[in-house]
Amino acid sequence: MSLGKIIDKKNNNLSMRLDRQKVPEHIAIIMDGNGRWATKKGLPRTYGHKRGVSVLKEILKVSKKLGCKVLTVYAFSTENWTRPRKEVDFLINLFSEVLSDEIKELHEESTKIKFIGDLTPFPKTLKKIISSSESLTKNNKKFLLNVCVNYGGRQEIVKVAKKIALKTSSGEIKLSEVNEKLFNSELLTRGIKDPELLIRTSGEKRISNFLLWQLAYSEIYISNVMWPDFNEFEFLKAIIDYQSRNRRFGGIESLPNESFEDSQYSS
Ligand code: FPP
Repeated sequence: MSLGKIIDKKNNNLSMRLDRQKVPEHIAIIMDGNGRWATKKGLPRTYGHKRGVSVLKEILKVSKKLGCKVLTVYAFSTENWTRPRKEVDFLINLFSEVLSDEIKELHEESTKIKFIGDLTPFPKTLKKIISSSESLTKNNKKFLLNVCVNYGGRQEIVKVAKKIALKTSSGEIKLSEVNEKLFNSELLTRGIKDPELLIRTSGEKRISNFLLWQLAYSEIYISNVMWPDFNEFEFLKAIIDYQSRNRRFGGIESLPNESFEDSQYSS
């Protein structure tokens, strides 16, 4: 049997265990380990990022196949500027290249692409490609791909807090009107349901300043696989693991045959 067929069989076996009705609508991913993967192979770190793009394309395809609706990926954090200039430049060029190459197909598949983060420090050429990709795909309804670049969760929260403080001090809104719903409506992800699942690759068990507000109740899945080796099989494993979780959102699971009215605390 060819390697391709063995992989298909492995994926099929796993997808049979998947509950199609319980596929998360929104999955967030920290695509970690590109550099380490390349270094371990004696290659420049940039090879890891290049390979990471192919993996992202595969995971996007699988997400659509499974019925997931939104993917939010961490492509460049506010802290990534501290990397060697050569690597930063490589990543910036890679974003432009990938966008130019892929936008036609993304649009044909009715995928909307949105960049989340402060784009100010990026070169004009990248900002132009981002803006034309966003406007071309803005009415697409089948899938939403959010790419977080120069994004930091703390920075996002501080910005929202400042905006709300300004609105309250100018009298536009009352202090009593400040609540989670209002806060949500000022976030860069406004209008998008919070991710049900966060996947981080490379075995690191941190959130690393990613979607701090939005991940409050997300299930977290850590994969020990480096992002360039992540694939459909590992992705299915993450979703199946998510489906085995008992999501209580801080409450308790209702006990069988006991309604609130029956319970001893209901009087
Ligand atoms: C983390 O690995 C990965 C990144 C900082 C870049 C990820 C970017 C891509 C895969 C390109 C996506 C492109 C588009 C247009 C969406 P790392 O370098 O932190 O790895 P390390 O922890 O091993 O050093």
